[in-house]
Amino acid sequence: MRVIVTAGPTREYLDPVRFLSNPSTGKMGFAIAAEAARRGHEVTLVAGPVALKTPNRVHRVDVTSAREMLAAVKKAAQRADILIATAAVADWRPAKCAAQKLKKSQMSGTLKLVRNPDILKTVKGVRKIGFAAETNDVLAEAVRKCREKGLSFIVANDVTKKGSGFGTDTNKVTFVFADGTLKFFPLMTKARVAKRILDEVSCL
Ligand code: PMT
Repeated sequence: MRVIVTAGPTREYLDPVRFLSNPSTGKMGFAIAAEAARRGHEVTLVAGPVALKTPNRVHRVDVTSAREMLAAVKKAAQRADILIATAAVADWRPAKCAAQKLKKSQMSGTLKLVRNPDILKTVKGVRKIGFAAETNDVLAEAVRKCREKGLSFIVANDVTKKGSGFGTDTNKVTFVFADGTLKFFPLMTKARVAKRILDEVSCL
């Protein structure tokens, strides 16, 4: 199969030295890309700013913002079978990005934000697997996102649980399907979570 994986955070700049972002390191997405390539799939890894080595036999496209990630995913999706979206995409960006570093005197206490595009929702013509990083109502939120974004399934992770979510080498996940079916897993390494996801994908 031809697989696209998104990984890492996006950065949304308000001037050349300041941005909105989140703590994603890309570990979950890189583990999936590595496992997919190991299984012989053709992998395009669209990565936000992260400090990880590209897995063997993976084609990597580096991006910074959500809009750049969308453009790279759309391009790759023209010849792909499946999109696995682990990236923690910023839902909002500053309405303006100043060309020069803003002086304190130029900044007010309010930052005007505009919505970023939803990459998973926008991209059509491929099977889609999402991730949901939640702190509360984890499964209900995951079911909602799975339905709204037209996904085959979504991988829910409760980021308040020890060893789970951002930056860790492990993750505790539940696969959530649009019809409400759930598959629970114990705490596993991200490499093992990647295997379970690709096992599930092979049954779709
Ligand atoms: O990178 P690590 O440090 O290993 O951490 C892994 C992780 C915690 C980032 C990962 O396991 C994870 O949960 N990723 C999803 C993060 C998230 O909060 O997603 P979300 O609930 O905002 O979005 C749901 C889905 O829609 C995700 O698949 C996301 O990639 C996608 N999305 C979201 C917003 C947007 N504008 N476009 C999107 O495509």
